[in-house]
Amino acid sequence: MDLAVKIEPKMKNLIDIKSLTTSEISAIAERALEIKNGAKPLSLEGKQAVMMFFENSTRTKFSFEMALNRLGATVYNFETSKSSISKGEDFFDTLNNLAAIGFDACIIRTSQEGLVKDTLEKQLMGRKFFKDIAIINAGEGQKSHPTQALLDFVTLREIFGNIDGLNLTIIGDIRHSRVAKSNIELLSRFNVNIKCAAPSYFRDESIENVQWVDNLADGLENADVAMVLRIQKERIQEKIEFEDYIKNYQLTDENLPTDCILMHPGPVNRDVEANSALLNSKKGETILKQANNGVYTRMAVLEMILGENSDKN
Ligand code: CP
Repeated sequence: MDLAVKIEPKMKNLIDIKSLTTSEISAIAERALEIKNGAKPLSLEGKQAVMMFFENSTRTKFSFEMALNRLGATVYNFETSKSSISKGEDFFDTLNNLAAIGFDACIIRTSQEGLVKDTLEKQLMGRKFFKDIAIINAGEGQKSHPTQALLDFVTLREIFGNIDGLNLTIIGDIRHSRVAKSNIELLSRFNVNIKCAAPSYFRDESIENVQWVDNLADGLENADVAMVLRIQKERIQEKIEFEDYIKNYQLTDENLPTDCILMHPGPVNRDVEANSALLNSKKGETILKQANNGVYTRMAVLEMILGENSDKN
């Protein structure tokens, strides 16, 4: 068996889906599935990564930690309330000090849109990092969540093989969802037909490459995949009519077509966006497949960013 690991092309950071080439996206997905199917991962022994999570997380945080551990890297947690950010230290200065201390990568989750990109752009304005430090976006505001879109792509490739022409419907709070936006950016580049089914208060018609529908029945017509979203309460200022939403948009064991796959990025709010009978059925298992693929996808991303181009494994 040829165990040569070819990490090509090599990325420096992971900012958003837009900054990835189509071949980088495909390479990450192929590598994630190779590792899942038993290929030996690269060793990242000696690499030091710091997790800076300014927003809560279960799946992204622990799957990054799991991925780093499986690759042999060392993981540290940045505790904001115990850090000098709480004394007013600037984010770029904080990161630069972490680079000076010796970190190779910083994995960031933040509610502050543009923070990741702005930090990197500061380098162009002459504020150099002490040493190279890779910056990985683990979810940014309501704008982008690139590793979630990549793991969803891996899951679709695993289930369907070829996703060209697939019909995928995103249902629910699309306006406030970074998952929806990153998925639309990624999947529209692979010729997936994307419908968005949402009430007016969850729409964002500035999003390109999708067809909007205002009811669940039209959304589910011919759908191969229903990707349902949580209502992002933490990002909503206005009053939401939950009962109206549940009545008109909740996915159930009765309204989801038999051949349609159910996906959800998590966390799920049971009996809001999907009912428990559906979540507890065989259909609910794909959601855990997504969480499981998150580890392999993040291993592939970390290999690509922190690994050496080599065939030594
Ligand atoms: N899908 C996702 O980002 O989940 P967490 O918020 O738990 O990381």
